Amino acid sequence: MNTLNHNNLNSKPVGFFDSGVGGLSVYARFKKILPKEDCLYFGDLANMPYGNKTKGELVGFARNILDFYKERDVKAVVIACNTSSAQAYEAVKEDYNFKIYPIIQSCAKVIASANYERVGVFATEATVKSGVYTKELKKHKSGIYVKELACPHWVPIVENNLYTNSEAIEDVRVQVEKMQEFLPDKIILGCTHYPYLISMLKQFAPEELFIDPAEIFVNYIKSDLEKQGLLNESGGTEKFFVSANPESFKTHAKIFYDIKNLPICV
Ligand code: DGL
Repeated sequence: MNTLNHNNLNSKPVGFFDSGVGGLSVYARFKKILPKEDCLYFGDLANMPYGNKTKGELVGFARNILDFYKERDVKAVVIACNTSSAQAYEAVKEDYNFKIYPIIQSCAKVIASANYERVGVFATEATVKSGVYTKELKKHKSGIYVKELACPHWVPIVENNLYTNSEAIEDVRVQVEKMQEFLPDKIILGCTHYPYLISMLKQFAPEELFIDPAEIFVNYIKSDLEKQGLLNESGGTEKFFVSANPESFKTHAKIFYDIKNLPICV
C-alpha cells in the first residue's frame, strides 16, 4: 500500500512559476537533467513585472498560483522567481502540503560555500529591498561582503526584446560599472530574467564574472527529490499556462525554451 502511494506521489507533476519568461531559464535546465518529470509552468504576465510590487501584492500572487497548483495535485512547486522567493516564500511556505523550492534560499548555501569574499547581486527593486540575498549568504558565511544593486529596467528589456536598443545597452553598462567599483569576485544574476541579458552584460565585464543560479538551483531540486524518493521515471509531459498575453510569452520564451503550442490563458 505504502509503495503504491509512493509511486502515485512520484508521478505527480512539478509546478514552476515566475512573472513571465524569466523562470524558463530555470525550467529549461530542469528539463535537461530531469526529462522524465511531468511539468507545469505558470507565467503570471497579468501581474508582471513583479519587481516593483509590494510585499502584500507578491504574497497574493504567490498564493493564487500555489492554489492553482494545489488543484492540479502537484508534488512540488519551484519558485523560479527571485522576487517571489524574497518577498512571498516565508509567508506561504507552511500553507501547502507539497514541497516548495524558492530559488534564493535554495542556492545561497552553495554560493556561500565557494571561495568568494565579495559577491555582487543584480536583482529587482523588491528583491533588493528585502535584503534576502545578503541575509541568506551571511547565514552561511558571516564574513562575506555583499552588494545588491536594483536594475529596474532590465526585465522590460527582456520582455520587450530590446537587446540592441542603445538606451538599454547604456543602462546595462552603467549598472555593470557601478557594480565593478565594489570589486566583486562574482556577480549573481539575482533575477531569472537576467540570464537573457548575458550577450549585453559580457560587453562590459567577463562572462565568467556572472553566476546564473539556475544551474545550482536545479541540481539542488534534483538531489532533494532524489533524497525523498520522489523522482519520476516514466513521465515527461509539459503544459504552459499564463495569466495574460500567450503570444508574447511564446515569442519571448525562445532564447531559453521553444514552446511548441501557445500557452493556455487562465
Ligand atoms: N524573474 C523574476 C525574478 O527572478 C521577476 C521579474 C519581474 O517580474 O520583475 O525576480
